Amino acid sequence: MLTDTHCHLYLEQFAGDIDDVIRRATEAGVKKMLVPGMDLETSRQAVQLAETYPGIFAAVGYHPTDMQKFSAEDFDKICRLAEHPKVAAIGEIGLDYYWVKENEKQMQQRKNLLPHFELANTVNKPIILHLREENDAEAGDATNDLFDILEPWHEKLSALKSHPGVFHSFNGNLESAKRAMNMNFFIGITGPVTYKKNDSQRDLVRQLPLDRILLETDSPFQTPVPFRGKRNEPANAALVADKIAEVHQMTRETIAETTTKNADRLFRWESHT
Ligand code: NI
Repeated sequence: MLTDTHCHLYLEQFAGDIDDVIRRATEAGVKKMLVPGMDLETSRQAVQLAETYPGIFAAVGYHPTDMQKFSAEDFDKICRLAEHPKVAAIGEIGLDYYWVKENEKQMQQRKNLLPHFELANTVNKPIILHLREENDAEAGDATNDLFDILEPWHEKLSALKSHPGVFHSFNGNLESAKRAMNMNFFIGITGPVTYKKNDSQRDLVRQLPLDRILLETDSPFQTPVPFRGKRNEPANAALVADKIAEVHQMTRETIAETTTKNADRLFRWESHT
Protein backbone atom coordinates (compact mmCIF):
# COMPACT_ATOMS: atom_id res chain seq x y z
CA MET A 1 0.00 0.00 0.00
CA LEU A 2 1.31 3.42 -1.05
CA THR A 3 0.37 6.99 -0.15
CA ASP A 4 0.85 9.89 -2.55
CA THR A 5 1.12 12.83 -0.17
CA HIS A 6 1.18 15.52 -2.87
CA CYS A 7 -0.80 15.68 -6.11
CA HIS A 8 -2.69 18.54 -7.77
CA LEU A 9 -5.59 16.54 -9.18
CA TYR A 10 -7.84 19.56 -9.77
CA LEU A 11 -5.58 20.96 -12.51
CA GLU A 12 -6.84 21.01 -16.08
CA GLN A 13 -4.44 18.21 -17.05
CA PHE A 14 -6.81 15.82 -15.23
CA ALA A 15 -10.12 17.34 -16.32
CA GLY A 16 -10.80 14.69 -18.95
CA ASP A 17 -9.99 11.45 -17.15
CA ILE A 18 -9.85 11.94 -13.38
CA ASP A 19 -11.82 8.70 -12.73
CA ASP A 20 -9.30 6.69 -14.77
CA VAL A 21 -6.38 8.40 -13.02
CA ILE A 22 -7.77 7.45 -9.62
CA ARG A 23 -8.56 3.91 -10.75
CA ARG A 24 -4.99 3.44 -12.01
CA ALA A 25 -3.68 4.79 -8.70
CA THR A 26 -5.79 2.30 -6.76
CA GLU A 27 -4.63 -0.54 -9.01
CA ALA A 28 -1.01 0.48 -8.41
CA GLY A 29 -1.64 0.25 -4.65
CA VAL A 30 -1.96 3.99 -3.99
CA LYS A 31 -4.77 3.96 -1.45
CA LYS A 32 -4.56 7.54 -0.19
CA MET A 33 -3.82 10.78 -2.02
CA LEU A 34 -3.39 14.24 -0.54
CA VAL A 35 -4.38 17.14 -2.78
CA PRO A 36 -3.01 20.54 -1.68
CA GLY A 37 -4.58 23.81 -2.81
CA MET A 38 -2.68 26.83 -4.10
CA ASP A 39 -5.28 29.58 -3.56
CA LEU A 40 -8.94 29.86 -2.52
CA GLU A 41 -10.34 28.45 -5.75
CA THR A 42 -8.03 25.40 -5.92
CA SER A 43 -8.40 24.79 -2.17
CA ARG A 44 -12.15 24.55 -2.73
CA GLN A 45 -11.57 22.17 -5.64
CA ALA A 46 -9.29 20.03 -3.48
CA VAL A 47 -11.99 19.76 -0.82
CA GLN A 48 -14.55 18.90 -3.49
CA LEU A 49 -12.35 16.02 -4.73
CA ALA A 50 -11.96 14.82 -1.14
CA GLU A 51 -15.74 14.82 -0.75
CA THR A 52 -16.12 12.81 -3.95
CA TYR A 53 -13.44 10.12 -3.52
CA PRO A 54 -12.94 8.25 -0.23
CA GLY A 55 -9.15 7.90 -0.76
CA ILE A 56 -8.59 11.60 -1.37
CA PHE A 57 -7.81 14.15 1.33
CA ALA A 58 -7.22 17.88 0.89
CA ALA A 59 -4.96 20.67 2.14
CA VAL A 60 -5.83 24.37 1.92
CA GLY A 61 -3.78 27.55 1.66
CA TYR A 62 -1.96 30.01 -0.57
CA HIS A 63 1.06 28.89 -2.58
CA PRO A 64 3.90 31.45 -2.38
CA THR A 65 3.76 32.14 -6.14
CA ASP A 66 0.00 32.87 -5.85
CA MET A 67 0.32 35.44 -3.05
CA GLN A 68 -0.93 38.28 -5.25
CA LYS A 69 -4.38 36.68 -4.82
CA PHE A 70 -4.20 36.77 -1.00
CA SER A 71 -6.81 38.89 0.80
CA ALA A 72 -8.03 38.91 4.39
CA GLU A 73 -11.54 38.17 3.22
CA ASP A 74 -10.55 35.13 1.17
CA PHE A 75 -8.25 33.91 3.90
CA ASP A 76 -11.26 33.80 6.24
CA LYS A 77 -12.83 31.39 3.76
CA ILE A 78 -9.66 29.29 3.77
CA CYS A 79 -9.91 29.19 7.57
CA ARG A 80 -13.44 27.83 7.38
CA LEU A 81 -12.43 25.24 4.78
CA ALA A 82 -9.56 24.17 7.05
CA GLU A 83 -12.07 22.81 9.56
CA HIS A 84 -13.49 20.35 7.03
CA PRO A 85 -12.97 16.78 8.31
CA LYS A 86 -11.24 15.74 5.08
CA VAL A 87 -8.77 18.61 5.18
CA ALA A 88 -5.65 16.97 6.60
CA ALA A 89 -3.16 19.84 6.38
CA ILE A 90 -2.51 23.53 5.63
CA GLY A 91 -0.73 23.94 2.30
CA GLU A 92 0.88 24.23 0.13
CA ILE A 93 2.55 27.24 1.66
CA GLY A 94 6.10 28.51 1.88
CA LEU A 95 8.67 30.64 0.08
CA ASP A 96 9.60 30.68 -3.59
CA TYR A 97 12.45 33.01 -4.56
CA TYR A 98 13.03 31.17 -7.83
CA TRP A 99 9.93 32.49 -9.58
CA VAL A 100 9.51 35.56 -7.39
CA LYS A 101 12.57 37.78 -7.22
CA GLU A 102 11.22 41.20 -6.25
CA ASN A 103 12.03 42.11 -2.66
CA GLU A 104 8.61 43.44 -1.92
CA LYS A 105 6.86 40.32 -3.17
CA GLN A 106 9.20 38.08 -1.20
CA MET A 107 8.34 40.14 1.86
CA GLN A 108 4.66 39.58 1.13
CA GLN A 109 5.29 35.80 0.98
CA ARG A 110 6.91 35.88 4.42
CA LYS A 111 4.20 38.07 5.90
CA ASN A 112 1.34 35.92 4.64
CA LEU A 113 2.93 32.73 5.93
CA LEU A 114 2.22 33.78 9.51
CA PRO A 115 -1.59 33.57 9.41
CA HIS A 116 -1.24 30.13 7.78
CA PHE A 117 0.97 28.99 10.66
CA GLU A 118 -1.56 30.34 13.12
CA LEU A 119 -4.34 28.51 11.30
CA ALA A 120 -2.42 25.23 11.52
CA ASN A 121 -2.26 25.76 15.29
CA THR A 122 -5.93 26.56 15.56
CA VAL A 123 -7.18 23.55 13.62
CA ASN A 124 -4.32 21.32 14.86
CA LYS A 125 -3.29 20.22 11.37
CA PRO A 126 0.28 20.06 10.01
CA ILE A 127 1.72 22.25 7.25
CA ILE A 128 2.92 21.34 3.75
CA LEU A 129 5.92 23.51 2.90
CA HIS A 130 7.07 24.58 -0.53
CA LEU A 131 10.63 25.94 -0.59
CA ARG A 132 12.35 26.96 -3.77
CA GLU A 133 15.63 28.77 -3.84
CA GLU A 134 17.27 30.85 -6.53
CA ASN A 135 20.93 29.92 -6.90
CA ASP A 136 21.89 33.54 -7.39
CA ALA A 137 22.59 34.91 -3.90
CA GLU A 138 21.28 38.34 -4.85
CA ALA A 139 17.80 36.91 -5.21
CA GLY A 140 17.66 36.32 -1.45
CA ASP A 141 18.02 33.26 0.75
CA ALA A 142 14.66 31.51 0.93
CA THR A 143 15.97 28.62 3.05
CA ASN A 144 17.31 30.81 5.83
CA ASP A 145 14.31 33.12 5.65
CA LEU A 146 11.97 30.14 6.00
CA PHE A 147 13.83 28.64 8.95
CA ASP A 148 13.90 32.07 10.62
CA ILE A 149 10.09 32.10 10.62
CA LEU A 150 9.64 28.38 11.18
CA GLU A 151 11.86 27.78 14.20
CA PRO A 152 10.20 30.27 16.59
CA TRP A 153 6.79 28.96 15.50
CA HIS A 154 7.83 25.37 16.14
CA GLU A 155 9.34 26.30 19.49
CA LYS A 156 5.93 27.38 20.80
CA LEU A 157 3.93 24.44 19.44
CA SER A 158 2.30 21.91 21.69
CA ALA A 159 0.15 19.26 19.98
CA LEU A 160 1.81 19.69 16.56
CA LYS A 161 5.35 19.77 17.90
CA SER A 162 6.07 16.09 17.23
CA HIS A 163 4.61 16.21 13.69
CA PRO A 164 4.53 19.84 12.45
CA GLY A 165 4.59 19.10 8.71
CA VAL A 166 6.57 18.19 5.63
CA PHE A 167 9.12 19.86 3.38
CA HIS A 168 7.43 19.01 0.09
CA SER A 169 9.63 17.96 -2.86
CA PHE A 170 12.76 18.61 -0.86
CA ASN A 171 15.77 19.59 -2.95
CA GLY A 172 17.99 21.25 -0.38
CA ASN A 173 21.20 19.89 1.14
CA LEU A 174 21.71 17.51 4.04
CA GLU A 175 22.31 20.37 6.45
CA SER A 176 18.86 21.85 5.71
CA ALA A 177 17.28 18.41 5.90
CA LYS A 178 18.78 17.91 9.35
CA ARG A 179 17.59 21.33 10.45
CA ALA A 180 14.07 20.35 9.32
CA MET A 181 14.21 16.92 10.95
CA ASN A 182 15.42 18.47 14.20
CA MET A 183 11.99 20.09 14.33
CA ASN A 184 10.38 16.71 13.53
CA PHE A 185 9.52 17.68 9.96
CA PHE A 186 9.18 14.99 7.32
CA ILE A 187 11.01 15.16 3.97
CA GLY A 188 8.95 14.73 0.79
CA ILE A 189 10.66 12.86 -2.06
CA THR A 190 9.41 13.18 -5.64
CA GLY A 191 10.18 12.02 -9.20
CA PRO A 192 13.54 13.84 -9.63
CA VAL A 193 15.14 11.15 -7.40
CA THR A 194 14.79 8.87 -10.46
CA TYR A 195 16.55 11.26 -12.89
CA LYS A 196 19.75 9.88 -14.30
CA LYS A 197 21.91 12.89 -13.46
CA ASN A 198 20.49 13.45 -10.00
CA ASP A 199 23.11 11.60 -7.93
CA SER A 200 23.11 14.40 -5.37
CA GLN A 201 19.41 13.79 -4.60
CA ARG A 202 20.03 10.03 -4.26
CA ASP A 203 23.01 10.71 -1.95
CA LEU A 204 20.74 12.85 0.18
CA VAL A 205 17.97 10.23 0.28
CA ARG A 206 20.51 7.58 1.28
CA GLN A 207 21.33 9.65 4.35
CA LEU A 208 17.74 10.24 5.40
CA PRO A 209 16.29 7.92 8.03
CA LEU A 210 13.40 5.97 6.51
CA ASP A 211 10.99 7.07 9.22
CA ARG A 212 11.29 10.69 7.98
CA ILE A 213 10.53 10.14 4.28
CA LEU A 214 7.20 10.81 2.60
CA LEU A 215 6.37 9.67 -0.90
CA GLU A 216 4.99 12.26 -3.35
CA THR A 217 4.34 12.59 -7.05
CA ASP A 218 3.50 16.34 -7.31
CA SER A 219 1.26 15.29 -10.22
CA PRO A 220 0.93 16.45 -12.95
CA PHE A 221 4.54 17.71 -12.55
CA GLN A 222 7.93 16.07 -11.80
CA THR A 223 7.20 12.85 -13.68
CA PRO A 224 9.61 10.03 -12.77
CA VAL A 225 11.66 7.97 -15.24
CA PRO A 226 10.68 6.27 -17.59
CA PHE A 227 7.69 8.58 -18.17
CA ARG A 228 9.62 11.85 -17.89
CA GLY A 229 8.13 14.45 -20.23
CA LYS A 230 4.62 13.00 -19.92
CA ARG A 231 1.90 13.99 -17.48
CA ASN A 232 2.55 12.65 -13.99
CA GLU A 233 -0.15 10.83 -12.00
CA PRO A 234 -0.43 9.25 -8.53
CA ALA A 235 0.07 5.67 -9.84
CA ASN A 236 3.69 6.71 -10.49
CA ALA A 237 4.28 6.95 -6.72
CA ALA A 238 5.32 3.30 -7.12
CA LEU A 239 8.27 4.38 -9.31
CA VAL A 240 9.46 6.84 -6.67
CA ALA A 241 9.13 4.07 -4.06
CA ASP A 242 11.21 1.74 -6.24
CA LYS A 243 14.04 4.25 -6.48
CA ILE A 244 14.06 4.91 -2.73
CA ALA A 245 14.06 1.13 -2.22
CA GLU A 246 17.08 0.80 -4.52
CA VAL A 247 18.94 3.60 -2.77
CA HIS A 248 18.25 2.16 0.69
CA GLN A 249 18.69 -1.44 -0.48
CA MET A 250 15.26 -2.43 0.78
CA THR A 251 12.22 -3.97 -0.89
CA ARG A 252 9.49 -1.83 -2.41
CA GLU A 253 7.09 -3.32 0.17
CA THR A 254 9.23 -2.03 3.05
CA ILE A 255 9.41 1.45 1.53
CA ALA A 256 5.68 1.45 0.78
CA GLU A 257 4.78 0.34 4.27
CA THR A 258 7.17 2.72 6.03
CA THR A 259 6.28 5.83 4.01
CA THR A 260 2.58 5.07 4.40
CA LYS A 261 3.02 4.76 8.17
CA ASN A 262 4.91 8.06 8.15
CA ALA A 263 2.03 9.71 6.29
CA ASP A 264 -0.46 8.25 8.77
CA ARG A 265 1.58 9.62 11.67
CA LEU A 266 1.77 13.08 10.13
CA PHE A 267 -1.71 13.54 8.71
CA ARG A 268 -3.81 11.38 11.13
CA TRP A 269 -6.38 11.08 8.33
CA GLU A 270 -9.40 9.90 10.24
CA SER A 271 -8.87 11.83 13.45
CA HIS A 272 -10.73 14.94 12.29
CA THR A 273 -14.00 13.29 11.38
NI1 NI B 1 2.61 21.28 -5.23
